[in-house]
Amino acid sequence: MAESTGVPTEIEQRVRELREQLSAHNVAYYAGEPTIPDGEYDLLARELRDAEAAHPDLADDASPTHLVGAPAATTFDPVTHAVPMMSLDNAMDRGELEAWNERVTRALDEAEAGPVRYVCELKFDGLAISIRYENGNFVRAATRGDGRVGEDVTANVATIEAVPSVLGPGAPEVFEVRGEVYMPVSAFDALNADQLAAGKPRYVNPRNTAAGSLRQKDASITAQRRLGFWSYQLGEVVGRDDFESSLVVFDYLSELGMPVNGEIRSFDSIDDVHGFCSQWELGRHAPDYEIDGVVIKVDSLRHRALLGSTSRAPRWAIAFKFPPEERTTQLRDIEVSIGRTGRATPFAVLEPVFVGGSTVGMATLHNEDQVATKDVRPGDMVIVRKAGDVIPEVVGPVLAARPENTQPWSFPTSCPRCFEQLLRGEGDANTYCVNRMCPSRVEQGIAHFASRAAMDIEGLGERTVVMLVDSGLVVDVADLFGLTSHDVLTLEGFAEISATNVISAIDEARERPLADVLIGLGIAHLGPTSAEALATRFQSMDGILAASPDDIAGIDGIGPTIAESVTEFFADEVNRMVVTKLGEFGVRLDIVEGADLPQNLAGLAVVVTGTVSGYSRDEATAAIKGRGGKSPGSVSKKTSALVVGEGAGASKLAKAEELGVPQLDAGGFEYLLANGELPPSAGGE
Ligand code: IVH
Repeated sequence: MAESTGVPTEIEQRVRELREQLSAHNVAYYAGEPTIPDGEYDLLARELRDAEAAHPDLADDASPTHLVGAPAATTFDPVTHAVPMMSLDNAMDRGELEAWNERVTRALDEAEAGPVRYVCELKFDGLAISIRYENGNFVRAATRGDGRVGEDVTANVATIEAVPSVLGPGAPEVFEVRGEVYMPVSAFDALNADQLAAGKPRYVNPRNTAAGSLRQKDASITAQRRLGFWSYQLGEVVGRDDFESSLVVFDYLSELGMPVNGEIRSFDSIDDVHGFCSQWELGRHAPDYEIDGVVIKVDSLRHRALLGSTSRAPRWAIAFKFPPEERTTQLRDIEVSIGRTGRATPFAVLEPVFVGGSTVGMATLHNEDQVATKDVRPGDMVIVRKAGDVIPEVVGPVLAARPENTQPWSFPTSCPRCFEQLLRGEGDANTYCVNRMCPSRVEQGIAHFASRAAMDIEGLGERTVVMLVDSGLVVDVADLFGLTSHDVLTLEGFAEISATNVISAIDEARERPLADVLIGLGIAHLGPTSAEALATRFQSMDGILAASPDDIAGIDGIGPTIAESVTEFFADEVNRMVVTKLGEFGVRLDIVEGADLPQNLAGLAVVVTGTVSGYSRDEATAAIKGRGGKSPGSVSKKTSALVVGEGAGASKLAKAEELGVPQLDAGGFEYLLANGELPPSAGGE
């Protein structure tokens, strides 16, 4: 840092702080144990770069902004790169991408170099490696290290199947190929499944695991990790210098047998480049490898030479980064919530953090063993992950940042709500509050009854249900049908109109199909399909109540576990009383739908994503199932069609694209329901 007189200013202090933090993170990263996710590192690095740009007097050649990474750890032999391995500048949004485009086009215009063409590649979330071939033979592989000197990981890289040991005919004398070593998501998941089975902590993410795998002293361990490699750049080349563009280089790499990713595209306009970035931001989970952005490079090597590089990154390339899906935050506490079945679920109370497109303040920790396996402790810094529409999860603690005196968390022995004992049966992963009158269980049970998945009573959300139970107006689900608007008016936040609306929504629910009532009762293991089967077989609640255990077990589509659970439920006196009370309050218990629908979708699997005009989500799936079709939650090779509504899920769309599954809009869906086959425009037979 430049010599300063007297007390450091605020900005001097911040710059010093940032430099210290970034250096420490660099050391940890290159030792294979990153302490913060990439996205956060980028933010710190950017803050430091901006501060240094605004305060040139604080410039320092040793600042981490001038370095690509930290010095290589000493456990592997050092390798000096003949051509330095550079890093990339980042564009966080469209504006920054366009600003970069302007800098590039202006410089090329000034040099009268002709129009620019961009090549877009996926930004693989792995680690950069340089592989050296001499006379076509694999001789050495090295990590990037600090960009100038890396580590010798020849023995490890030699185990990667995708990396050829001998290049195709005509390879130059020296040919250094750079690219990314990565761990396929499927390999990562399989590895974690093994860890789980062995009761060992799981690996945090594919990138760190790939890095750790490459730094194994015993290369036979690397070999078991199914690592992959994508080549994207040349280093030192002796014996060939006539490449015009990177597209030519990619063709040549393929010809010599190096793996080249199939998603490389070139564009003449920055709008198209941005379109490519947006498309991949939506479909980022479609490939079997993790990506965290798109790398955009100027295609012509002559143009690249004109543009040159700064000390750390080329001016002819930029990384368009996707918003991070992992962040670190503090785990304030671990609490337990009680569900309608009494299941006690531990959950993380987090210092709120913006991740994966929303602010996350809580995340489930599933059960006692999960907390123990992850070894997360109140006070820890933890990695929180939220990918796409998947619910947020705590991946694990950042052990390097664990405060002193943290204690392993232990499951409470009594219910936080009713103070009765919590019990965990032998061989059961879950712990339960066994008090069926526990207010949490009652509230959750009634909220479930009113939910969209069951009786779909509009305006009767969890908050209102809690007030109804608290005030003693409702003790079981049947009591809802005895409520008056006068009762509802006594609750906080309700006025004349809103109270009347809730009462008429409850009134409407008296005419729901029997299957919805069965689902609403919360019978263990009974899902929508088995509830339909039960309703169809017995046609009324009286029929079900009169059925013998054998009658129930004999229904097609109802297995022994469900049959036992149904029998047990209706053998219980309290449950029978609630059912009788429902009838007394005028709830119809004999409406069976779908009995006369044509079974024209039998054998078809139709996935629905988003809201299809004219249907609620449940109605759309019910329309499919009512006609004998299946409606699974995800797209696979077996999917007959994907129905795409408003707010469709990006991952489902990308998967359907990838597998060539026909996509239907609302009109196409109607056609399918009516005719039992795909509309001709959807590519149906
Ligand atoms: S080119 C001089 N292309 O991103 C340009 N890098 O943030 C060198 N990366 O160090 C890099 N995918 O580890 C390039 N298609 C791609 C990439 C890619 C991932 C990584 C690479 C690099 C880092 C920079």
